[in-house]
Amino acid sequence: MADKKSVLIVDDEQIVRESLRDWMSSHGYTVATADDGEQALKMIKDRDFDVAVVDLRLPDKSGIDILKQAQKVRPSLKGVIITAYPSVTSSSEAIRSGAVDYLVKPFAPEKLEQLVQKLLGTAKAAAPKSTPRAPASGEKAITSVMIENRVFPAPASFSREAAVRSMQEYKALYNWSVSDPEGFWTHITEQLDWYKKWDKFLEYDFKDKPEIRYFVGGKINVANNCVDRHLKTWRKNKAAIIWQGEPEEDARILTYQQLYYEVCKFANVMKKYGVKKGDRISIYLPMIPELAIAMLACARIGAIHSVVFGGFSAEALRDRILDCNSNLLITADGYWRNGKVVKSKDGADSILGDCPQVKDVFVVKRVGKDLTVNMKPGRDHWWHEEIAAPDIKAECELEAMDADEPLFILYTSGSTGKPKGVLHTQGGYLTHAYQTMKWIFDLKDEDIFWCTADIGWITGHTYIVYGPLAAGGTSLMFESVPTYPGPDRFWQIVEKYRVNIFYTAPTVLRSLMKEGDDWVKKHDLSSLRLLGTVGEIINPEAWIWYHTVIGKERCPIVDTWWQTETGGILMSPIPGAIPTKPGSATMPFPGVEPIILREDGSEVDVNEGGWLSIKKPWPGMMRTIWGDPQRFKETYFSKFPGYYCAGDGARRDEDGYYWLMGRIDDVIKVSGHRLGTAEIESALVSHKAVAESAIVGLPHAIKGSSIYAYVTLKTNVKPTPELEKELRDHVRKVIGPLATPDKIQFADSLPKTRSGKIMRRILVKIASGDINNLGDTSTLADPSVITTLVKGRVV
Ligand code: WTA
Repeated sequence: MADKKSVLIVDDEQIVRESLRDWMSSHGYTVATADDGEQALKMIKDRDFDVAVVDLRLPDKSGIDILKQAQKVRPSLKGVIITAYPSVTSSSEAIRSGAVDYLVKPFAPEKLEQLVQKLLGTAKAAAPKSTPRAPASGEKAITSVMIENRVFPAPASFSREAAVRSMQEYKALYNWSVSDPEGFWTHITEQLDWYKKWDKFLEYDFKDKPEIRYFVGGKINVANNCVDRHLKTWRKNKAAIIWQGEPEEDARILTYQQLYYEVCKFANVMKKYGVKKGDRISIYLPMIPELAIAMLACARIGAIHSVVFGGFSAEALRDRILDCNSNLLITADGYWRNGKVVKSKDGADSILGDCPQVKDVFVVKRVGKDLTVNMKPGRDHWWHEEIAAPDIKAECELEAMDADEPLFILYTSGSTGKPKGVLHTQGGYLTHAYQTMKWIFDLKDEDIFWCTADIGWITGHTYIVYGPLAAGGTSLMFESVPTYPGPDRFWQIVEKYRVNIFYTAPTVLRSLMKEGDDWVKKHDLSSLRLLGTVGEIINPEAWIWYHTVIGKERCPIVDTWWQTETGGILMSPIPGAIPTKPGSATMPFPGVEPIILREDGSEVDVNEGGWLSIKKPWPGMMRTIWGDPQRFKETYFSKFPGYYCAGDGARRDEDGYYWLMGRIDDVIKVSGHRLGTAEIESALVSHKAVAESAIVGLPHAIKGSSIYAYVTLKTNVKPTPELEKELRDHVRKVIGPLATPDKIQFADSLPKTRSGKIMRRILVKIASGDINNLGDTSTLADPSVITTLVKGRVV
């Protein structure tokens, strides 16, 4: 048997010292104790210890100083810092000065023992964790085909300056966050401005209700945190938003001070028109500063905004206005896209007749002289005239909001035809947005941060508006597309503004990659220091291109996994700390506890695919579906009771890295846009010629997924190329151009089970030409439909 390992415990609290000593000695360690720093250092000089467990606050010295000094004498000594007063700074400092871990008191002595075993490499091999199970009938284990072994550590120069600098530091923060969530998040929230501290950190129930409430009793205002509080600092004249329009000459910079005035003025306009706390405000604006201003103005007075992506059709806007019953709409005359004007106001006019409750419409004059719009007297008002009215002041009071009152609704696609109004609230959402900004994007005061998403999606809400502004950053906002006037527009903007952090979607990268590297080489991208992706799995080829051609092998890449529902990023490399693997979102953000489950609810083995779920809430999590708590429960908490089910497949590798494997529900990602197959189906079926439809997503080299539609026409309707075009236009009109089917196959009937359920599995195979192995077709009501469908496949 090996020699006994020796441990020194340094703590001025007798009870801690003795209980740890007793436990460790009875588990085979030689243990010595000291109750102050001097004594501890003397003992370390005299004797060789394997591990020193040192309290952070000792009467004569800090535990961190003791470790630093001790390691000069005994470089091989492993240190652990323990504390009852944890903080992000002391945790980081402890790890940076050589501690291998950071434990928050009170902890069970077993925990220390396990840690020591791990440090000394004496941990007993764990019994294989495989849980035998009987495969459910017809169920197939999810297998992954993506094997990617390369590992890219962050460049040392990056890590040295980063917010979190090593894997150990990340682990210490992570361990603290899950063992003491209240302590951890409290520390983070202290960096925000609250009117009143909360009485209770968290109340939740993932099973019966479900319900999640953070910071109960706390009072906060999000706009105060994103704007006003920076005015008390040197940041008041810092650029908050840099806006670049599609025409190069259209650009605007808003400092925090200017942003403040704009937000206050528009908030006052809304108040003048009777808007009160809790009212829903629909916003249908392009990517112009007024969009961010309108959102912050709502936040300022406690109104709930519902931003509808400008690329959605007017009909989609109508459904969203009706669902949340908003009385006020904010839109623009139009905007620029690929050199042409898109007429937003005309679109809105076409549906406002169906929304009689909308009493006021504010119209931003974006395009101006080239575009005339109809203004309905009494209902429609020009934004610029309203904010300039003599009774509109440039100061406006802040509404103190309960931490869990609504901040916004954002509609997103799910497995049924009707979009879900995802509801986010104040304090938790802001805390999550803020902290991910700090650690994942490593935002520094000098940085220009550019997230290329549209604010109409959650990525834009959290990482163009709320995250960067809460952190006092400079957020760049761009009106248009990556390819106009040429496929180097993004790189030209990076060069023009000296962008430091760039965050985009894999589909954008793939589309730019195919244009060739010369477009990139025309521009100086040396300002970039960090790159990010979001929205779908990034294929290793695109990752490597991003890394070499854009990042010049200098910039870490953060592949961030999250959802509209999660509010902010849940999994991502922390760039200075976690080495990246192309295609993996790596590890959970502190406070997030993922688990991957099999169909039967048991936990998967290493490298086995399953349903990605989350065990416990996190502050940025959605609170409900607007007006439909039952659907909230069914969608996220019924498949695996007690867990939040994300709807994504994933596996975890032997190093603990997570690999996303795509949606396993009926949601597809087309060019980064989230769409429900059921939504497109119901759009098709709303056409008079269509009896039935089934949509499947097929892998597509650039878009991620393409849309393949099977359409059964009503009796006596003939399939013609004209009808096919009409159906495409129809989907465009009902949902928007993003949902247009790439291929339409007319089919007299679809494969159904005897109970009438469409067998999508078979439709996917037929559409992708994979017809040799259609699996079990014996449950089909009429197996002969298969032959006809295979013949009619559209290539
Ligand atoms: C997918 C976007 C792989 C996933 C923020 C998720 C990703 C859905 C990643 C949410 C990623 C997002 N790797 N897949 N890094 N990020 N997804 O609501 O399927 O538009 O469930 O939110 O996008 O899409 P949503």
